Amino acid sequence: MSVKISASVLNSDLANLEKELKRAEAAGADMVHLDVMDGVFTESLTFGDYVVKSLRPHTKLPLDTHLMVNNPTKLIPLFAAAGSDIITIHAESACDTKACLKLIKSLGVKAGISANPETDVEDVFPYLELCDMVLIMSVKPGAGGQAFQNTSLDKIKAVREEADRLNIVLDIEVDGGINEVTAPLVFAAGANIAVVGTYLLNSGDMEQAVKIIKNSAM
Ligand code: DX5
Ligand code: ZN
Repeated sequence: MSVKISASVLNSDLANLEKELKRAEAAGADMVHLDVMDGVFTESLTFGDYVVKSLRPHTKLPLDTHLMVNNPTKLIPLFAAAGSDIITIHAESACDTKACLKLIKSLGVKAGISANPETDVEDVFPYLELCDMVLIMSVKPGAGGQAFQNTSLDKIKAVREEADRLNIVLDIEVDGGINEVTAPLVFAAGANIAVVGTYLLNSGDMEQAVKIIKNSAM
């Protein structure tokens, strides 16, 4: 199975983001995962569209923008214009989810829908045909370096089964606590994209760490 790694820069050196992007790219990451937090949906605040716009010229990798925000509606056009290749919104956000997904697609960007650990996975099923990707959160959104929650595995399986039943091509990305132990589990469950943050950053040899994660897919 061909799998991808979306390198999360959340816990990297945010004062040197250009360098961090290049490091992930050189190590063999397939995408860059950008965690946008609004201080409402999550406790922390991170960065916005101006930062994404500044990063855009510095990497050829797709920018995988994860909007952990309460109301993404007005932000979607800004992140699309900034150069995001994928924009993921949350099923829990206070917005018209279908309208937001359609808006993302209308701007020529791939659309994703995400579900938090406490959210029923069936909550994303009504949106699968409007999406390119489902992002299953395997940690509470808001921080890197948390422990992987095993409950995400059944959710990944359920989404893959539903996508197969509907006969649609769908990426399934999993986000939080991915390392050499949990990556094989999520790929075996049916995910094909792993967001990887602290495991890569703490590895000492990022290229080797990328290989370990990718080779863990059967
Ligand atoms: C958590 C973020 C994740 C985070 C993953 O709210 O959405 O993308 O950066 O980091 P690790 O791999 O450290 O769990
Ligand atoms: Zn994320």
